[in-house]
Amino acid sequence: MKIIQEGKARINTYAAETVSKDMPVFYNPAMHINRDISVLLLNSIDKNGMQIALPLAATGVRGIRFLLELKKGKVKYISFNDRSSEAVKLIKSNLRLNKIKLSKKIIVTNLDANEFLLSSKGFDYIDIDPFGSPNFLLDNAVKRIARQGIIAVTATDTAALCGTSRNACLRKYSSKPLKNEFCHELGLRILIKKVQESASQHDKALTPIFSYSKEHYFRIFLKCEKGKKKADEIMKNHGYILHCKKCLFRKNADSIFNDEKCPLCKSKLDYAGKIWLGPLYDKKLAEKMSQEARKSENKELIKLMQVISNESKINEVGFYDIAKVVKHNKLKNVPKKELLINEIKKQGFKAAETHIRPNSIKSDIELKELLKLIKKINQ
Ligand SMILES: C[S@@+](CC[C@H](N)C(=O)[O-])C[C@H]1O[C@@H](n2cnc3c(N)ncnc32)[C@H](O)[C@@H]1O
Repeated sequence: MKIIQEGKARINTYAAETVSKDMPVFYNPAMHINRDISVLLLNSIDKNGMQIALPLAATGVRGIRFLLELKKGKVKYISFNDRSSEAVKLIKSNLRLNKIKLSKKIIVTNLDANEFLLSSKGFDYIDIDPFGSPNFLLDNAVKRIARQGIIAVTATDTAALCGTSRNACLRKYSSKPLKNEFCHELGLRILIKKVQESASQHDKALTPIFSYSKEHYFRIFLKCEKGKKKADEIMKNHGYILHCKKCLFRKNADSIFNDEKCPLCKSKLDYAGKIWLGPLYDKKLAEKMSQEARKSENKELIKLMQVISNESKINEVGFYDIAKVVKHNKLKNVPKKELLINEIKKQGFKAAETHIRPNSIKSDIELKELLKLIKKINQ
């Protein structure tokens, strides 16, 4: 065992050469940024007096950080749970290590996560942070999320969501993925659609307020409203994206026709879907989180939040990988990202880099116009 420091928390962890789910109690230091962002988000929303659930708490690091790092008045009640008795022992000893006493407001249970959720009265924030797919917990999480509450979901089954395992995606998420340059964004959008579908069965509407993709995982935060009409509105934003492998043309679509051709190069279009076609972020929240991040000394977090805040202002599905656009369309040189962003903006369009892929641009400019612009820069 060794004691590590993460944020303001000191945590006893099992030392392991490689991080794996076979560790006696799971702790992944690389996920500190996942936890940093949860803290940032909860500190950036208006909500106070929250009832917080951590159904898959492992070492308890996330909840202990909430207790130490969230602003005064944010937490009314926090419930740590894990089905592993080793984990529960460690959560209790980590609470002691951080001088936090168990009370009516700070509870630790040793239940299966579904039983934990079902036996509760409900929560304002439920954090689902599983090994692999979150699917096994979605139905009960949406049942127990309060009006205006937030569900946070991590998914690490990127092979399914990004299109490496197409059948796994169809089976688990009822969507066809696409292995292309923006497959990670599509993975986020498939995951969002899946969680929203679970909620709509209970007449609840989940709107994404913050989403990102990083290394081996996806992370989404969705805000809950109740009512059939609101749930119907959400489902109207489920659809498809059509994509041309040859010239990289793409467009959103309500439905798909097998023989649809690319309007630019006449190749057969492929598709992903159904996916969430709406915004991935509440842009005001993204900006606030970026401001809040700047108060820290965490350079990685500051940069990530700045990039996301900029791209959150552009509500487009997919983005342009500049080198691929150049190569696939047989243009000469690859323009510098910053230069191209400025030139796109000069034409009156929106443009920003995306956190999802280096040297890629999110923009509302159409491919045809972008190609003209790159040709002009190349002259
Ligand atoms: C990826 S870890 C959670 C990491 C933790 N949230 C963090 O931020 O460090 C997943 C945890 O879920 C627990 N777990 C897996 N399946 C469970 C289930 N059905 N019910 C309750 N706990 C479960 C495991 O014991 C493990 O501790």
